[in-house]
Amino acid sequence: MSEQHLAVIVLAAGEGTRMRSSTPKVLHEISGLPMLGHALATATALGAQKVIPVIRHEKEKLEQYITSFYPNAHVVLQDDVPGTGRAVECALDALPADFSGAVVVTSGDVPLLDVQTIESMIEVHLNTGAGATLLTASFSDPTGYGRIIRDASNSFVSIVEERDATEEQRSITEVNAGVYVFDFKHLKQALGSVKSQNASGEKYLTDAAVEILKAGSQVHALEVVDNWLVAGVNNRVQMQQVSSELNRRICEGWMLAGVTITHPESTFIDITAVLAEDVTLLPGTHLKGITRIGSGSTIGPEVVITDTQVGSNVSITKSQITGSVIDDEATVGPFSYLRPGTHLGAGGKIGTFVETKNAVIGAGSKIPHLSYVGDATIGEHTNIGAGTIFANYDGVTKHHTVIGSHVRSGSHNVFVAPITIGDGAYTAAGTVVRKDVAPGSLAMNVAPQRNLAEWVIAKRPNTASADAAKKATE
Ligand code: UD1
Ligand code: CA
Repeated sequence: MSEQHLAVIVLAAGEGTRMRSSTPKVLHEISGLPMLGHALATATALGAQKVIPVIRHEKEKLEQYITSFYPNAHVVLQDDVPGTGRAVECALDALPADFSGAVVVTSGDVPLLDVQTIESMIEVHLNTGAGATLLTASFSDPTGYGRIIRDASNSFVSIVEERDATEEQRSITEVNAGVYVFDFKHLKQALGSVKSQNASGEKYLTDAAVEILKAGSQVHALEVVDNWLVAGVNNRVQMQQVSSELNRRICEGWMLAGVTITHPESTFIDITAVLAEDVTLLPGTHLKGITRIGSGSTIGPEVVITDTQVGSNVSITKSQITGSVIDDEATVGPFSYLRPGTHLGAGGKIGTFVETKNAVIGAGSKIPHLSYVGDATIGEHTNIGAGTIFANYDGVTKHHTVIGSHVRSGSHNVFVAPITIGDGAYTAAGTVVRKDVAPGSLAMNVAPQRNLAEWVIAKRPNTASADAAKKATE
């Protein structure tokens, strides 16, 4: 079918009261994208002439999301007549008067729906010349969904919402999935006749299917094979179920693509993350946002990585990393905290209890223990001693520290920025570096050590220390 004859409407104007949230329902995230983002990604992939999200409740927040990530979508505002049917009616006004063809309707709260399912619905719809084709599913617990009423010959008759259903109708397990393909002209006409006489006082889209039938056209109700694809999210219990199923599918996909995941139940991978072959993910690994992991790297246990590029053969354990770049063969952790702007060069190391921010660390350089490295540039093959603080903040402004290559800094240093330490320089243990250090110099400003002989025996008599000292000197 030509894309000139296809429009996709994504319903997202409902209040989502069952979520009990100040965030609009369809902006709640699963696997790193708002549910609406999943729905719009699928809608966009159909290559339609127009993708029309319908919004109303919290419209500013929704519009901001849509225009940032789907600038080509044509946002439509639903008026104050409630119901899915009214939402679609408002959307149809955005199509040119001479539009002819198919209109797909999906929902912002059905995040797992895939392109292939919709494409096969469109195919049946066009091949049979139907007025409407809708998707159904059989759920052992159909609570909350509209039930599908069929006649003796198994043909579609109507959809009854749970609130309007009789006891007998409620026992039907075949439900309306909320995914439709309509013929534009039939749909427009049918919605004109739909009334709001039901328990919710809403104009139901489901009633349009019945009107189309009455007008003498066919309505096909196709049963989906994979129920998860049409699972709707109305509350946080359903959101968790859908979210963990999506994560299970994402993990399975990466395993089939060559990634070892030792415990998928505790491994969470956003749909936007990309992994190479022979990556190993250990339990408790979270890969979020635009994150990329190179081949042969081992991540975990207990690592949270967000918006970060990781090279090949990198090892990261028990750490939290955001907005960083980690080059090949580097090691991070355990217990490292890499904040935005960290770039660890090839073969470099950020070790135990080290926090970094806006820090470019050259190839082979190491910060192994107990340090803070903020606003710094470090050359190659430099070693930063244990317990070093880059004092970047003077109380008002942040300043930068530059450290050359092959530098050896002593333990427990403070680098008071702005400061520059030249290539091949050393600093002594306990140095507070306030002045630049020339290449190859040793910096030290520690007061000479004095040992006061027998001070403990004299000043702390009759203590265990004094006794021990006496014994040692006897
Ligand atoms: C709807 C269907 C039900 C189906 C179920 C599948 C109707 C009347 N019922 O019920 O048969 O089993 O989906 O998930 O269509 N929306 C608007 N404007 C509105 C009301 C809703 O845009 O005035 C949007 C919502 O934001 C949501 C979608 O339409 O994305 C579905 O609305 P919701 O209230 O969740 O309908 P359900 O009760 O789930
Ligand atoms: Ca719903």
